[in-house]
Amino acid sequence: MEHLLELRNLSIDLPRGKRQSPVKLVEGVDLTVRKKQNFGVVGESGCGKSITCSAIMGLLSYPLTVGAGSSIRFLKENGEELEITSLSPAELRKLRGKDISMIFQEPMTALDPMYTIEEQINETLRFHTSLSKPEMHEAALAMLKKVKIPRPEQILKDYPHHLSGGMLQRVMIAIALINNPRLLIADEPTTALDVTIQAQILDLMNELRESYDTSVIMITHDLGVIAETCEEVAVFYAGQVVEQASVEEIFRAAAHPYTAGLLKSVTSLGGEEKMLYTIQGAVPTAGNFGQGCRFADRCEYCESRCRESAPALTEISPGHLCRCWLHAPGKEAAQ
Ligand SMILES: Nc1ncnc2c1ncn2[C@@H]1O[C@H](COP(=O)(O)OP(=O)(O)OP(=O)(O)O)[C@@H](O)[C@H]1O
Ligand code: SF4
Ligand SMILES: [Mg+2]
Repeated sequence: MEHLLELRNLSIDLPRGKRQSPVKLVEGVDLTVRKKQNFGVVGESGCGKSITCSAIMGLLSYPLTVGAGSSIRFLKENGEELEITSLSPAELRKLRGKDISMIFQEPMTALDPMYTIEEQINETLRFHTSLSKPEMHEAALAMLKKVKIPRPEQILKDYPHHLSGGMLQRVMIAIALINNPRLLIADEPTTALDVTIQAQILDLMNELRESYDTSVIMITHDLGVIAETCEEVAVFYAGQVVEQASVEEIFRAAAHPYTAGLLKSVTSLGGEEKMLYTIQGAVPTAGNFGQGCRFADRCEYCESRCRESAPALTEISPGHLCRCWLHAPGKEAAQ
């Protein structure tokens, strides 16, 4: 296995009892994250971004399950290849916080209000290393300095409620990086922060990435955040990837009408407020996708065959994938 992470035909099922087949919340997702790559996942609320990442972490919440035929392969530092979907809970615990770690939108909910910052950092260190208490203290202090937390000695003694949202997110980043993971999943890490702090956190993540060998999956609903942080991006819509390409290519030549809509609604970080474009309509709910293109009801280019059958994800130019009949092979010839 050459890459760090390979998702093949990933589906995530919501069971509906014995008589009915499960609802596919995510279906047929293929993604490849290379070593040291910054990979963006973008899409509106409910598209399946977070549950895809929960599946990578082996943390799908009840009653969701990974569907039959799905594969999530991860390459460990020692060259060992793991199939995450078949690991035991104990094996997954060893992987999380060490090889793969995650930061969430709401740091307050991810930290325990009853423990100091130092105790929470120590918990990760204790589980994955054999450092002594003074060594853990030094490691925690050094990590807080790396994430540019002022007065780190004091912050280690503080409880989460003493800190602002931006500081808490820095603490979360420190905890996520302290064991030098191979993959960091950041699920909307700046959405809950105000715009100035958002920009600071994204700058910090960019800086840290240069000093660590970590690959990052950045999940967001904002292509502006992707532009600031990523090299490659997958656009999710209704549980599927509808477009994937380098960030440069997406901004230069987005092919899917949904991506074009997202591009029109990009906010500029720290920039002036402007009237935001919104794509009309809503994401269809899982289980009601119909047989055609899942974007059909919202698409200004929709034609009859879009409703009759679903387009496949197709390579429309080297490295650029799109799931739309407008870009299907032979389209030009047929016109
Ligand atoms: N435990 C669960 N049980 C049932 N449905 C769920 C569960 N968790 C998520 N879902 C459904 O799965 C779909 C995808 O959810 P997910 O949280 O991945 O969306 P998202 O793209 O991360 O959205 P957001 O931008 O709002 O975070 C949604 O329709 C959601 O309602
Ligand atoms: S397949 Fe048709 S409906 Fe779907 S995005 Fe393309 S043009 Fe629009
Ligand atoms: Mg989410």
